[in-house]
This record gives sequence, structure tokens and C-alpha cells, in this order.
Amino acid sequence: MDMKVEIRWVKETDSTQDELRRRISECDNMSVIAAEFQTAGRGQRGNSWHALKGENLTFSMLLRFGEGGFPPLNARGQFVVTKAATLGVVHYLNKKSIGCSIKWPNDIYVRDKKICGMLIESVLDGENLAYSIVGIGVNVNQRDFPAQIVNPVSMTLLTGEEYNLEDEMEILASSLADSFTTVLRGKPDAADEEYERLLYRKGSFYEYTRCPEGETFEGRIIGTTEDGLLLLEDKKGELNKFAFKEISYII
Ligand code: BTN
Repeated sequence: MDMKVEIRWVKETDSTQDELRRRISECDNMSVIAAEFQTAGRGQRGNSWHALKGENLTFSMLLRFGEGGFPPLNARGQFVVTKAATLGVVHYLNKKSIGCSIKWPNDIYVRDKKICGMLIESVLDGENLAYSIVGIGVNVNQRDFPAQIVNPVSMTLLTGEEYNLEDEMEILASSLADSFTTVLRGKPDAADEEYERLLYRKGSFYEYTRCPEGETFEGRIIGTTEDGLLLLEDKKGELNKFAFKEISYII
């Protein structure tokens, strides 16, 4: 598959998440709004998302469910959206000869450094998803990052190449559209094995912090549950499940 996706570029906006939400009636399933610069880019856990003007990809893709979009998806199964989105980015980076892993639930890492972050915001219609806005920031041409950004890396820092953002946006959007189409059109399990295999720090013991208590412990990632919790085994062999805000990695 090599799907063509409609991409609308804006010079500047607060956040492509909010820009897309404001323009949602103009947007078809899987169309994209990309910004050269965001004045108030949003990250996970209420953080902001930093990206220098014109150097990186900052965009949002709309996923519609039901009429005019993907088959209905029960909110309990919405972790498949995360899986499909992360795999779409991984496949794109692999095409660029960049090997990466998925830091649960949806960061993309190259060894111990973050190259891409995601914010997925969904709106429900009863028990099902009405739509999801998948917001993605990829560090592309940026070489210097402010000291407060933890473990950043960019495509340029890894390959030495300078990238054309419009070209890269098209290739990445197409890779995401392929991934969403495979996973959300009748093959919900298609992403499971690959997502689990690509999990950052899977299978060995590392240190984590329990939140909000702040207690540090050693654990081994075993995988994820169907509803998107992280499964960790502790040194006593006991399995523990964590939701996103309940654990932080020590890197
Ligand atoms: C994170 O790792 O904390 C998530 C970062 C998500 C950033 C992207 S950039 C495009 C879209 N618009 C936003 O305001 N946030 C997402």
C-alpha cells in the first residue's frame, strides 16, 4: 500500500490538535494538519512540546469512526489506535534507515533517546469512538535542544542528512495511513506481535519509579494488556499492571 493523504500546511498555530478540532468539519478521515510552528504545542502529562520553527514535523491526523471512516471501535479497544500510530512512525523511520523502539505507550526511541512523541485525543459517541486526533511531533532537522528536554535526538543527528519537511510529511502520512488501514479495517490483532516485539526495555530488569509515591523499584517489562496497561514483573516474580500516570522510567 502507498496511500495518498490530504495534508494542509499552516505557517503558525497554537497547536495542530486544536487547529484540527476547529476545522474538523473540513477534514476527511486520515487527513492531516501540519504546522511550520506551534506557539502552544502540547505534550503528554500536561507538558508543552518544544520544536524550533521550520525544523521538525508537528502535525495532527484525524481518524473518523463510523460513517465516512473506519468501522466502529468500542472505547475499551482504543489501545489499537496507539499501536497502529506507533507502528506507522516506526515503519517510516525504518524506511529512513533509522532503527527504533516504542517506549510504552507511544514514544518512539532510538536507543535511549526520544525522537518522536505522540498525543492521542479521542472523543466518544456513546460506547464507541467518534473520532481520534493523533498528534505527532518528530524531531527531524533540529540539532540543538534546550537543556530541559530529556534525552532528545533528531533524524539529522542520527544520519547527518538534512530533510525536506514537506516530502517527509507525505511519506510519514502515507505510512501512518497504511498502518491505520491495516489495523483498523478488520485486523485488530495485526499490530499486537510487532508492538510487543518493539517495546523499549522489554525483557530485562531496569529501575522505575512508582507514581505519585516516588518509590523506586526494579522491574522487567513483560508486555502490555489488551486495554493498554504495562505489565511488569518484579524481582519476586510478581506481575504488576501500571496505567500511564502510575509509573515513570529511569533512563
Ligand atoms: C509527548 O511526547 O509529550 C507528546 C508530544 C506530542 C506533540 C505533538 S506536535 C503536533 C501535535 N500538536 C500538539 O500540540 N501536540 C502534538
